[in-house]
Amino acid sequence: MKPQDYIDRENRYGSHNYHPLPVVLERGEGIYLWDVERKRYYDFLSSYSAVNQGHCHPKIVNAMTRQSAMLTLTSRAFYNNVLGEYEEYVTKYFGYDKVLPMNTGAEADETALKLARRWGYLKKGIPENEAIIVVCDGNFHGRTITIVSMSTDPESYGGFGPFTPGFVKIPYNDANALEKVLNEQGAKVAAFLVEPIQGEAGVYVPDDGYLKRCYDLCKKHSVLFIADEIQTGIARTGKMLACEHEDVRPDMLVLGKAISGGVFPVSAVLADDDIMLTIKPGEHGSTFGGNPVACRVAIAALEIVKEESLAENAMRMGELFRKKMSEVKSNMIELIRGKGLLNAVVIRNKNGKTAWDVCMEMKEQGVLAKPTHGNIIRFAPPLIIMKNEILDAVDRIARAFEIVGR
Ligand SMILES: Cc1ncc(COP(=O)(O)O)c(C=O)c1O
Repeated sequence: MKPQDYIDRENRYGSHNYHPLPVVLERGEGIYLWDVERKRYYDFLSSYSAVNQGHCHPKIVNAMTRQSAMLTLTSRAFYNNVLGEYEEYVTKYFGYDKVLPMNTGAEADETALKLARRWGYLKKGIPENEAIIVVCDGNFHGRTITIVSMSTDPESYGGFGPFTPGFVKIPYNDANALEKVLNEQGAKVAAFLVEPIQGEAGVYVPDDGYLKRCYDLCKKHSVLFIADEIQTGIARTGKMLACEHEDVRPDMLVLGKAISGGVFPVSAVLADDDIMLTIKPGEHGSTFGGNPVACRVAIAALEIVKEESLAENAMRMGELFRKKMSEVKSNMIELIRGKGLLNAVVIRNKNGKTAWDVCMEMKEQGVLAKPTHGNIIRFAPPLIIMKNEILDAVDRIARAFEIVGR
């Protein structure tokens, strides 16, 4: 089969809910991907920051295959010998009393919303069915009906109403807006849900001090501070959690993606007992949540982050990447921003050439990345990338800009 045959088959039989770059991949190892014609690429997307540990990390693959041969799923109708080990590991790792295991990021965010509402009614005393959750313009928390009800992106919510009520949307990176809502309606606000950096929106890094100020406001008004670290967490921004840049410990921490190294769908909500124990048996769950394979995979993936010092490497390589990119001469580059290895370049269209054209040419040059929100390209390689690989990749990216910008 030729690459186009694979593409045609997906188009013919699959839902058209994505717009992939036309490259057909068949193998991954570390920071590299290979297509069906054996061409090698640098992966500068990492499956939206899921593959922080690198593709097919042997330790994770071994953990998965060994556990798969032993026991894959018990459901939570019964106990199994792995879940408790994972629960102890992950709660001590991040410093929370308890974890609620789920599979996808959206499910974990949904879980956090349910916990927040439940806590609001049982602990804060919000009148039944009146809880408010404050969210930010430009957020991305997934694709369920409730989550798109929080979205301000018409592509996410348009045509999917009616929407779940109970959300108040405020501008991102504007603590005064949060203060205003809390002053006016604080008694009914259960939680503030925020991405420490807005990834999907285009890697918007808020001002220093924003998260801390929001956290302090939440404390003042007895409101839960929920950090969606599904994209920013697990060392991506140069710290284990992006909130650590401001010494903020969220009341609820939402993780997904790289908690499994991209090997298996694993997500989690972490919180202390006061919040977590407001949900009782039978009130929330998932058939696959906390399955033994996921647990083994997540333990291995989290061990790697420490063993291989991925946060420190992400910090160093991120600085190098932004420095080298700032030296690239192209009038299509409007702005470079990011933290650690979560970076973006804002593109200025030239002669009808857009971010998509740049990504197409980067593909020719052996680097895979994808535009997000039209004119922004996100650059997020696996966190195991080394200096010479950054330098080589930036040379290729520069060549692509040069060719497209001619
Ligand atoms: C911050 C954030 N939250 C939630 C999600 C949704 O995760 P999933 O696609 O696993 O449902 C994403 C995915 O990109 C994300 O970046």
